[in-house]
Amino acid sequence: MPRGLFITFEGLDGSGKTTQMRRLAAWLTASGRTVVSLRQPGTTALGDRLRAVLLDSRSESALGPITPLAEMALMFADRAQAIAEIIEPALAAGSIVLCDRYTDSSEAYQGAGRQLGSARILAMHAAVCNNLQPDLTLLLLPPLEAALARARRRNHHHAAAPTQPQPQAATQTQPADENRFEREPVDFYARIHAAYLEIAAREPNRVLIIANDDTGDNSIDAIELRIRALVAPRLQ
Ligand code: ADP
Ligand code: TYD
Repeated sequence: MPRGLFITFEGLDGSGKTTQMRRLAAWLTASGRTVVSLRQPGTTALGDRLRAVLLDSRSESALGPITPLAEMALMFADRAQAIAEIIEPALAAGSIVLCDRYTDSSEAYQGAGRQLGSARILAMHAAVCNNLQPDLTLLLLPPLEAALARARRRNHHHAAAPTQPQPQAATQTQPADENRFEREPVDFYARIHAAYLEIAAREPNRVLIIANDDTGDNSIDAIELRIRALVAPRLQ
């Protein structure tokens, strides 16, 4: 059985990862491929618990401040579990694995956003993830302000009226909210944006940037077609 293909989606909150990953999964499935989708943090039972702790803006009133190093370690605990439970078995079975965020997120958010540095994140990746690298990373980079505005609109909408089953929240009597990172100032996100560009420059064969085209069509449909064109050659 040939090994499957590991594709990750990266970008700022609100960059369109979730939307595009669903569409790519549907396209690949329609062409007869077996697709396994997951998001980080989350998807495993342990990961969903960690996600509630890491993303709920009320966590810190219950638990006290989460330090940057603890945040990093919890992101990697989630990742180690997902690799063992989902990613490695699916790749061994020949599936295409689509993952909404992976170690590049830790390098961008904890390494640059929280200023822990890339070296520490890459050492953690070697120790905890056995250096498992994606075959392809699609980095969605619309302008910073556009992405943040979309994420805020979506999160406020979800907080007001959750439409999907919510993972177990830190406070079980209230619906989950996922706004902990949203409270960060714009320069936190500017550091993340810059870090993503550095990662793409360092690994140009793995990381493909899907930036907004100033003259072109940047609709969800147009970006979907651009992504298909980038993925198709990797499927052979
Ligand atoms: P992410 O998973 O990166 O946070 P989402 O896929 O949840 O992003 O998209 C955030 C919001 O932006 C959603 O409401 C989505 O419909 C919208 N959106 C996604 N891509 C585009 C696009 N190319 N143009 C305009 N709106 C978009
Ligand atoms: P996600 O659900 O993908 O948020 P969005 O759809 O808004 O992009 O990711 C949740 C948040 O977790 C996001 O703000 C980024 C953060 N995160 C990290 O800080 N480090 C990590 O390693 C990962 C995987 C996510």
